[in-house]
Amino acid sequence: MKILGIYGSPREGGNSDLLLEKALQSAKSAGAEVTALRAADLDISGCHECGGCDETGECIVVDDMQKVYPQFDRADAVILATPIFFYGPPAQLKALIDRAQAPWNRRRLSGKQRHASGSGYLIAVGATQGKKLFEGTELMAKYFFDALDMNYGGAILFSSVDEKGTIQNHPDALNQAFGLGQRIGTAEP
Ligand SMILES: Cc1cc2nc3c(=O)[nH]c(=O)nc-3n(C[C@H](O)[C@H](O)[C@H](O)COP(=O)(O)O)c2cc1C
Repeated sequence: MKILGIYGSPREGGNSDLLLEKALQSAKSAGAEVTALRAADLDISGCHECGGCDETGECIVVDDMQKVYPQFDRADAVILATPIFFYGPPAQLKALIDRAQAPWNRRRLSGKQRHASGSGYLIAVGATQGKKLFEGTELMAKYFFDALDMNYGGAILFSSVDEKGTIQNHPDALNQAFGLGQRIGTAEP
């Protein structure tokens, strides 16, 4: 099982980081091959909406996203971790997600039906307790995974966490992340 972890927060060692780290460590201990990237460390421009990938399924923008596309292709599962910023993901992560238009077009052009060759999971944290805090981000994640030809496998969503590292006061969240890692790490690719 090859798992790609995507750290979406620009705050290293923050709450979503700690949950993703726990999930990835757990998956590794269960035998999975784990790789990870941090969107904010990469040079990834927003989608130019140039229409290039409409014709070819390939993105014409030359930046770090060209290193990310093969990582999408290799992964049997993706775990996407993000804080909520204004009811959505941080801009650095949203840029990466918008660039998944190219693989979405690649499948469309291939004429293949969606066959969901993998699974995507979401980890999200936010400071407030808004009833709809995760709604937009969860929808976004589902359609991002769909563009990668992955089923949506579920989410760990934690509200009322704000200061860096306060997720450590929520052993239930960390346990859920550990459990997620075990589940994915032991699943059939
Ligand atoms: C620019 C910005 C916007 C934010 N917007 C929201 C928001 O709309 N709703 C919310 O509950 N928390 C919001 N927060 C708080 C973060 O989601 C919260 O601090 C979270 O724990 C950060 O996770 P991280 O440590 O993984 O980055 C915002 C924080 C920042 C810096």
